[in-house]
Amino acid sequence: MPVSFNLADALNAALTSAAGAAGLDVTDFAAEVRTADPRHGDFQANGVLGYAKARKLNPRAVAEKLVAALPAEVAASHDVTIAGPGFINFTLKPSALLAWLRAHDSIEHLRANAATARHGQTWVVDYSSPNTAKQMHVGHLRSAVIGEAICRLLEFSGAKVIRDNHIGDWGTQFGKLIWAYQRHLDPAALAADPLEEFERLYKVGHAAAEADPAVLEQARQELVKLQAGDPENLAIWKKINDVSLGAFQQIYDQLGIRFDAVHGESFYNDKVDRVYRELTEAGIAEESQGALVVFHPGHPRFKTQPFLMRKGDGASNYASTDLATALWRAEHFHADGIVVVTDFRQADHFEQLFLTVRKWFAARHYRLPELHHVTFGAVTGEDGKALRTRDGGTIKLKELLAEAEARAYALVSARSAELPEAERRAIASVVGIASVQYADLSQNRSSDYVFAWDKMISLEGNTAAYLLYAGARIHSIFRRLGLDPATADLTGDAVRELSTPAELALARKIVKFADAIRLAADSLRPHYLCLYLYELAGEFSAFYAADKVAVEDPAIRARRVLLCARTLLILETGLHLLGLRTLTKM
Ligand code: ARG
Repeated sequence: MPVSFNLADALNAALTSAAGAAGLDVTDFAAEVRTADPRHGDFQANGVLGYAKARKLNPRAVAEKLVAALPAEVAASHDVTIAGPGFINFTLKPSALLAWLRAHDSIEHLRANAATARHGQTWVVDYSSPNTAKQMHVGHLRSAVIGEAICRLLEFSGAKVIRDNHIGDWGTQFGKLIWAYQRHLDPAALAADPLEEFERLYKVGHAAAEADPAVLEQARQELVKLQAGDPENLAIWKKINDVSLGAFQQIYDQLGIRFDAVHGESFYNDKVDRVYRELTEAGIAEESQGALVVFHPGHPRFKTQPFLMRKGDGASNYASTDLATALWRAEHFHADGIVVVTDFRQADHFEQLFLTVRKWFAARHYRLPELHHVTFGAVTGEDGKALRTRDGGTIKLKELLAEAEARAYALVSARSAELPEAERRAIASVVGIASVQYADLSQNRSSDYVFAWDKMISLEGNTAAYLLYAGARIHSIFRRLGLDPATADLTGDAVRELSTPAELALARKIVKFADAIRLAADSLRPHYLCLYLYELAGEFSAFYAADKVAVEDPAIRARRVLLCARTLLILETGLHLLGLRTLTKM
């Protein structure tokens, strides 16, 4: 393990040992060290209050005892004060900040620092998960962007992550689709834009079936044949899915996403019978007019609103395949955690699913993974209505990403007209995609999200362009100094104490990276990391405006170069964790 130290962990450990030395009941004491409001210090321990209250002790007196018993290293590296009713505040001394900066010279150190209880666990993340034979819509884009960031955050905190694209590749729509495919396929259109052609075919099949009951019957027969494993229909179905996945992959490539498993709904077809049997045997599911349903008597709504897990005609549905999916992930992947990323409209489905899985696994003594439904709000246009093209059609993701690049190209060309066109195009591709990703990630995912091009592709505010520009600016500082940020030796003796207010403020922000990562990873909310990076870039700007880097004095210059290098390392690591590409020039 690389030499590294998580500052909050170290303080927690020190306070626990102080608690023992001061005669507190350590089995019941948690120091609860968190990042503090910067006006009070770097870290704050809040745990004394609850401990003292439960025992009717004076919290300030308890805090004083603890502080007196702190290990000498803590007092040597922090200013420690007691505030209010019994908070303990810690402010790192400049020498301790410098030691941290020197030690954390690579991404491995940062990673070791951010490790959490999930280290070594296996997590399955189900995200994007579009439906085949259809265009991916903006909701699937949000799921893809948020899901990928969550995967990377979990990996960074030490978990093994399995990215699983749970595509909707099964269902009654295939009857009409196959019917139309056999009769109305336009091979040229298929080659040009397969998803568009499948959508057209579906519409043709649907309209024909509406107009003529004989067609409806034929389409139903096609579906029955498919479900019975008819080779010709299976081949068409497979072709539709393969071609759809190929089209999705073009979007995933632009977003830097690679799935480890693509187990769509059809994968679970032969796994639902076991689910029906086990849930019935355990008395969790009951028959109702031929259907199989689950009620949750303890729940205000689900005691009367059933979870329909097998339809009256015996067919499986979204609930049966999702139950089988949970079991597969637990048994096959040995998942310690499962995360499913969809919009909030599926909240009821997943609440019922998870309630059912908990009862089922308990009844069979299966190991229960942590279950999380990660939801997000709707995407609307600036008018507050669903996002549409100018002529009222649905927005295709491919076109949306192309527009992002075009708008970013205008921004880059306005700023850096001197760069050759090819370079501006390459930069615009990074800025455009990153802007769409970041706009989505930087706000609390639970809120609805207003898609506004001008706000999103801008150098002002909490945007991708602002952060990418901050990184590119640090690269240019290194270029002018003739140094390579990755290999420059920044730990030599020349570096001396940080001293100016801007140096110290920047260093204090840098050392809190691990806390921001943990907050984002634990809560599965990437916006915490975005906010941190935005604040970091702000501190960097303030530092760069106040303190010249290329000064004569080698000691001052060395410590400022060190600050630049660590800001860059953290900024780029953070942006990569969000799934963004970064730039050395902009
Ligand atoms: N295909 C579904 C949709 O487009 C999302 C699937 C999410 N994952 C799951 N295991 N249900 O809404």
